Amino acid sequence: MIEDRRIGFIGSGKMATALASGLVEAGVFTPDQIMGSDKLAEAREAFAGTVGARTADNNAAILEACDIVVLAVKPQHADALLEEIGSGFTPRHLVISILAGVPTSRIERFLPDGCRVIRTMPNTPMLVGNGAAALCKGSHARDEDLALAREIFESAATVIVVDEPQIDAVTAVSGSGPAYFFYLVEAIIEGGIKEGLPPEQAAELARQTFVGAAELLAASGRSAAELRKDVTSPGGTTQAAIESLDAAGTRRIIADAVRAAALRSRELGAQ
Ligand SMILES: NC(=O)c1ccc[n+]([C@@H]2O[C@H](COP(=O)([O-])OP(=O)(O)OC[C@H]3O[C@@H](n4cnc5c(N)ncnc54)[C@H](OP(=O)(O)O)[C@@H]3O)[C@@H](O)[C@H]2O)c1
Repeated sequence: MIEDRRIGFIGSGKMATALASGLVEAGVFTPDQIMGSDKLAEAREAFAGTVGARTADNNAAILEACDIVVLAVKPQHADALLEEIGSGFTPRHLVISILAGVPTSRIERFLPDGCRVIRTMPNTPMLVGNGAAALCKGSHARDEDLALAREIFESAATVIVVDEPQIDAVTAVSGSGPAYFFYLVEAIIEGGIKEGLPPEQAAELARQTFVGAAELLAASGRSAAELRKDVTSPGGTTQAAIESLDAAGTRRIIADAVRAAALRSRELGAQ
């Protein structure tokens, strides 16, 4: 339990609600230590209903009531938000950003000198309390700020700490990563249908195979390569599939896709 602190979410949408309810469930904060603001009434109602916390229809109320402020609007709304509230921050606030692709230097430009910023890159499985997140420090953040942010994100994600230049690689691996797996599920469903399964059954089998394989990977403590070799008997069906993937250069194609995401992340961060 983090005592004597108040955490406020500016933008009380999907990610804020997931993180805030994770904090309550994990016992890190009580609902009365949490607040959310949003310009949308439905978002405020959903946040209050799910988290049991107070909400406000103006962002200044968060700065006034909270010493930890999570920026959780969409990245395209970041500049407008920071124009509006940036000068209201003081060094007593710890600013935690989940704005994808927005560098700490860009956030700091809107804040009074000396404000502490932690940037995070979460991913959407955080919505079900099973995310992966990376954290990095802005120029004035301290190690204890990082430790506090880690405690907050660990309520809904596995957390690593990186230097900010590595955030683009994180974005490419775990930020965009869920989409690669969904893409693979889509392709396997299509393959199953072509081999004669009804679409619903192909979808059910593919989904459960991913869920089960993911749990096995997480629970077994063994590497993906070892688990793959376990199910690949010489001359068997899995080997036929892996050979087909290798012949098409699938490993290189996926590594290229990760690289494309990292490059795009660097481009967006430079804008
Ligand atoms: N790595 C990832 O895969 C990942 C996944 C999800 C989210 N994220 C990050 O998480 C952040 C939030 O995403 P989300 O999916 O939770 O978004 P969301 O559900 O759209 O929530 C954002 C909320 O903020 C509101 N808002 C916009 N401008 C505001 C302002 N100036 N003051 C107060 N509220 C404002 C929005 O209202 P309107 O709809 O009216 O604008 C919306 O209700 C994003 O920055 C995104 O980059 C990252």
